[in-house]
Amino acid sequence: MHRLFWRPLSTAVAALAALAGALPAAAAPLVDRPILIAHRGASGYLPEHTMEAYRLAVSMGADFIEPDLFLTADGVAVARHDRNLNATTNAGSVNIDSLSWAQVQALEARSRGTTGYATPGGSPYYDGSELFRVPSFVEVLDYVHGLYQDSGRIVGVYPEVKTISGNASYNLAIADAMLAALNDPRYDGFFDGSRGNVFLQSFDQSVVQYLNTRTELPLVFLTSCPGTAAAAATVRSFADGIGVSSAGASQACIDRAHDAGLLVHVYTLTDVASQYELYYGRGVDGIFGNHPDVGVGVRDALFPSTPVPEPASWALFAAGATGLAAWRRRRAA
Ligand code: G3P
Repeated sequence: MHRLFWRPLSTAVAALAALAGALPAAAAPLVDRPILIAHRGASGYLPEHTMEAYRLAVSMGADFIEPDLFLTADGVAVARHDRNLNATTNAGSVNIDSLSWAQVQALEARSRGTTGYATPGGSPYYDGSELFRVPSFVEVLDYVHGLYQDSGRIVGVYPEVKTISGNASYNLAIADAMLAALNDPRYDGFFDGSRGNVFLQSFDQSVVQYLNTRTELPLVFLTSCPGTAAAAATVRSFADGIGVSSAGASQACIDRAHDAGLLVHVYTLTDVASQYELYYGRGVDGIFGNHPDVGVGVRDALFPSTPVPEPASWALFAAGATGLAAWRRRRAA
């Protein structure tokens, strides 16, 4: 069972913040308000699952970027949504698990161009002449970690274990590769979950249950909304949250999941601000959006940011708050 640490932590930090009256500006941890997850990057503006789409999402203020993961034939975790590469690369109709990482690196990534996704010329961010590549998961982690090292900004990663039907060993190998990458000592614990900057997800219940035996990182099961309290409790026994389609995210669904202790993240919105208003208004904990600027704009308007100190500052901050309280007691005496 995982602990939903960010809620009580957020409450405690907010209480201290109120007591102190002012806080040092710091990289905002992803725990104090509902999140905006850039769905496949800023996929409404640039080809999905490219470094350019992730970078654009970050520049637009997204809290998390979301790489979907498959393994190449030689076991490299790469960011693709579809097993077949036809819709989003120049490879033609070929499965990604049949190619080596070297072969994947030579591909050109493209937008699928369907409704809600980028089209060259239909996006202000590219015209179709640019060359995009397929990134590995490690490239994504290196980028996020480097961003933190260079600027102090914490951007979360929300990888999804994709699956091949009937090939459990392959599916679990993706999960293993994902965890190995997150645990790489090069990152010095940056992805250990203590910053609230990692969620792991899958549509496959057996994968989520497997992850539950392998990691304490928060897990999100992509599923239809549990129809009863008992069903929600069952999900809560192996996951921390549910990812549900917006069409199924009724107020009753959200409330039932919350009552069971589950986070609720909704997918997938595009560029319609009123849709973000609707679901944030229903109390969801996060929204996957293809147009992060629209989602972040709504989220920020509804839930203004509260500067929160970095973990290393908490002890100093608590000491300051304690001193302030003692000073007030002395004045009142
Ligand atoms: O992961 C949440 C949402 O992205 C699920 O949809 O099809 O993009 O993986 P899909």
